Amino acid sequence: MERTLVLIKPDAVKRQLTSKILSRFEDKGLKIVGLKLMQLSKEKAMEHYAEHKKKPFFDNLVSFITSGPIVAIVLEGKDAVTVVRTMMGTTNPRDAAPGTIRGDFAMDLGRNVIHGSDSVYSAEREIKIFFEEDEVLDYERVIDKDIYENLE
Ligand code: GTP
Ligand code: MG
Repeated sequence: MERTLVLIKPDAVKRQLTSKILSRFEDKGLKIVGLKLMQLSKEKAMEHYAEHKKKPFFDNLVSFITSGPIVAIVLEGKDAVTVVRTMMGTTNPRDAAPGTIRGDFAMDLGRNVIHGSDSVYSAEREIKIFFEEDEVLDYERVIDKDIYENLE
C-alpha cells in the first residue's frame, strides 16, 4: 500500500490544530503508520526542502519549519500521496478550496499549516529523513474491509 509523509507545521501545532488535522486523515480512512512530535534541525530542514534551495523564500522556509515543534506522520492507503495532496488544498491557502485543510485553516503562503509529499518518489525520500525503519509500523485494521472493496 502507498505511503506518504505529512508534516503538521509549527504554526498549526502552536494553534492546537494537531488533533483536528489528524482526525481528517483518520476519518478519510488513511492509516497512521508513523507519528512523532519533534523539532527539526536546520540540517534536516535543508535536506527536506533541498528542491527549493535556490528559491528566494528558502531561508524563511527553513527558519519557519525549525521554529517550533512539528508533528511528522506517515500515512498509508491506496493512492495516499494524491489523496493527501487533494485534502491539503493548494499551496497558497487564500486560493485553497473550502473543505481542504489549507482552505479551512490558513491565510498565508508562509503559514500554510501542513506539508504532504508531492510524489511517491518524494514520499520515499522524505520518510527516511524523519523516521527510522522500525518507527514505521505494519498492522492490520478490522475496518479495512469496510474502507476498501478490494484489498491487495
Ligand atoms: P509543502 O507541502 O510544504 O512542500 O508545500 P507545497 O508542495 O504545496 O509547495 P512547495 O513545495 O512548492 O513549497 C514549499 C513551501 O514553501 C510551501 O508550503 C510554502 O510555505 C513555501 N512557499 C512556496 N512558494 C512560496 C513563495 O513564492 N513565497 C514564499 N514566501 N513561500 C513559498
Ligand atoms: Mg512541496
